[in-house]
Amino acid sequence: MDVIRTIREMQAWSKERKREGKTIGIVPTMGCLHEGHLSLIDAARVHGADCVVVTIFVNPIQFAPNEDFVSYPRDFERDSALCAGKNVDAVFAPPVQEMYPAPVTCFVSERKLSKGLCAKTRPTHFDGVTTVVAKLFNAVLPDVAVFGQKDAQQARVLQRMVRDLNFPIRMVIAPIVREADGLAKSSRNRYLSETERRNTLVLSRSLKEAAGLVAGGETDLRKIVASIQEKIAAAGGKVDYVETVDAEELEPVEVKSDKPVMIALAAYFGNTRLIDNIIL
Ligand code: PAJ
Repeated sequence: MDVIRTIREMQAWSKERKREGKTIGIVPTMGCLHEGHLSLIDAARVHGADCVVVTIFVNPIQFAPNEDFVSYPRDFERDSALCAGKNVDAVFAPPVQEMYPAPVTCFVSERKLSKGLCAKTRPTHFDGVTTVVAKLFNAVLPDVAVFGQKDAQQARVLQRMVRDLNFPIRMVIAPIVREADGLAKSSRNRYLSETERRNTLVLSRSLKEAAGLVAGGETDLRKIVASIQEKIAAAGGKVDYVETVDAEELEPVEVKSDKPVMIALAAYFGNTRLIDNIIL
């Protein structure tokens, strides 16, 4: 497995593989890899990637000044061993200086899907994500890119970027990987105390119960939202948002019809902000 630190070497690596007729899959991550990330490597192969490049880069411009950029967990040795164990072809792990040698004045900005949900508390986050992912695409030159449904809004925003800016890349969204008890796997779960960790179960459980109610004929999504909010509060969580939206356009929906609806939520347990979602 190759470990590549510069954009120029990464581009040369990919061009060489393309000359050999190989298709390249990219799995962008911020490291601290878990089974959720590793499932994306498998998905890249299933969707036709002959070579898989995992990028590991904690992207400063997607963190607000009050967020956890400095304390975000980093363990390159462990991450690269996990990638090697999955037969990843290359890890692209550029230093911050390589990606941002000068202050950025040119951003990629999505203007619709990136405005609601998480953007209400993280207003600059998605511009940071679209900008870095465009840069990673230009470094890795992938044919296929895989993102997780765990970050549903991010995945929709990036799909829109690829569509609107004509990146020649097939976008794949892979399902959420969960702990045995239902909590969506996340690098931030390690911040939780034992009690907080137990309390977070309410997230996946209340989403599942909501799906059960809708399957049983409930169409009033405001009632569904209210019941989830109550359950999270009762478990000691602080709701950031619980919303029902069109699963593709992310527009608010209050009555369930035959179109897919996503219930998306974010909540704090202690200082840790967790997100989860389900599609109905
Ligand atoms: P990160 O949080 O490291 O996540 C990298 C990818 O793994 C994202 O596509 C995310 O949706 C996916 N992922 C995380 N947890 C998952 C889970 N439990 N099941 C399935 N997929 C999961 O998302 C980012 O990094 C960054 O914003 C990035 C896109 C790399 C840009 O910096």
